[in-house]
Amino acid sequence: MLIHSASQILTLAGPPQRGQALGELGIIEDGAVLLDGEKIAALGPSREMRTTYADEPQFDAGGRVVMPGMIDPHTHAVWAGDRAAEFEMRIQGKSYLEIMNAGGGIVSTVRHTRQASLEELKAQTRPRLVSMFKHGTTTAEAKSGYGLNTETELKMLRAILDLDVEGPLELTPTFLGAHAIPTEYKDTPDGYTDMVCNEMLPTLNLWWKTKLSAFNLHRLPFVDVFCETGAFSLEQSRRILETARWLGFPLKIHADEFDNLNGASLAAELGAVSADHLVVTSQADMAALGQSDTVAVSLPCTPFGLAEGHYTPASDFLDAGCILAIATDMNPGTAWCENMQFAIALACRYLRLTPAQAIAAATINAAAAIGKADQIGSLEPGKQADLLILDVNDYRHLGYRFGGNLAHTVIKKGTFYPIGG
Ligand code: NIG
Ligand code: FE
Repeated sequence: MLIHSASQILTLAGPPQRGQALGELGIIEDGAVLLDGEKIAALGPSREMRTTYADEPQFDAGGRVVMPGMIDPHTHAVWAGDRAAEFEMRIQGKSYLEIMNAGGGIVSTVRHTRQASLEELKAQTRPRLVSMFKHGTTTAEAKSGYGLNTETELKMLRAILDLDVEGPLELTPTFLGAHAIPTEYKDTPDGYTDMVCNEMLPTLNLWWKTKLSAFNLHRLPFVDVFCETGAFSLEQSRRILETARWLGFPLKIHADEFDNLNGASLAAELGAVSADHLVVTSQADMAALGQSDTVAVSLPCTPFGLAEGHYTPASDFLDAGCILAIATDMNPGTAWCENMQFAIALACRYLRLTPAQAIAAATINAAAAIGKADQIGSLEPGKQADLLILDVNDYRHLGYRFGGNLAHTVIKKGTFYPIGG
């Protein structure tokens, strides 16, 4: 199949974009891209490509923008129930802590998620994944973390594996057993850390190996920790991540959402794939990230969702030489947003990224944040045929316009899904 007559093809060709190099789109004007099954076969100017590949089926992009499918590298997409009442309380002035003490917050979602059957959990999650896909996300990371006991954490991971097989949105799983201290361990938080290290991680390791062939899995899931005041201290985070690393798991961390506990430096030291949130990161932590391959993932929907004024100081991260990515953080508490286009619009305004920088942060760098930059995130021969056709003739409309859906067609592994237009 030859897709031709794109006003701009944003190839994003090349490696993840570090520091101030962010924003190289590799544009082919009036471009064409040849797909071969699930892969990209060739790219070039429409006129030449239409001659060379005249015998291929043709798809007229009609002067629209063609780019890689977006990658959402940080989501908590799987959960049961909702927290609409809590949102209303927050808007009326109740603090996060007051809401937590009234039985709200993460532990309220944990109650609902523990009660839901696997089928109920998948049924509640499915429409969110469909919506993400319709907004142009072709691959997303998805975390457990609303179980906080072995049984429910595994149920969540099973839901992620099943929903990935269902498609079309491709999912990359992350174990976040260390998301919050469950009510049962309120007075003994170190006891919960012991449980994560001594019971959950080894059990997960064995359980995963029984799923390898049925689900065609190539690696262990990521292990993530919410390193934050009121969640897991730096020492507890270190114990969990070191145990996970010893068992062979690739690592991620939630760091610096509210307090700077030096979690980003820990991520860099342990070779984590990413460190996420990064609102109140110190200069030393930024320097550590900038000297590592750990991707800095900013989540602008979260301060927006909480109506807070502080966002990731992106230009400092770029000056420090970091590989910057963006994600939605889609979750029921702080950011129920299924739309990476909206994350881009926020990143342009509050992180002061140009549209080109935000697009690179949502594609090739987001792919790096889930360890998949060799397969997705750019349009290059041999890469997966995951593409997004936008109903605009200039890429800068992404970021400029917000609140709607600019997707015209989403293509996943070579299959076309018409969306709008
Ligand atoms: O990334 N920070 C921790 N976890 C989520 C919030 C999850 C929730 O409130 O349910 C986040 O913002
Ligand atoms: Fe998160």
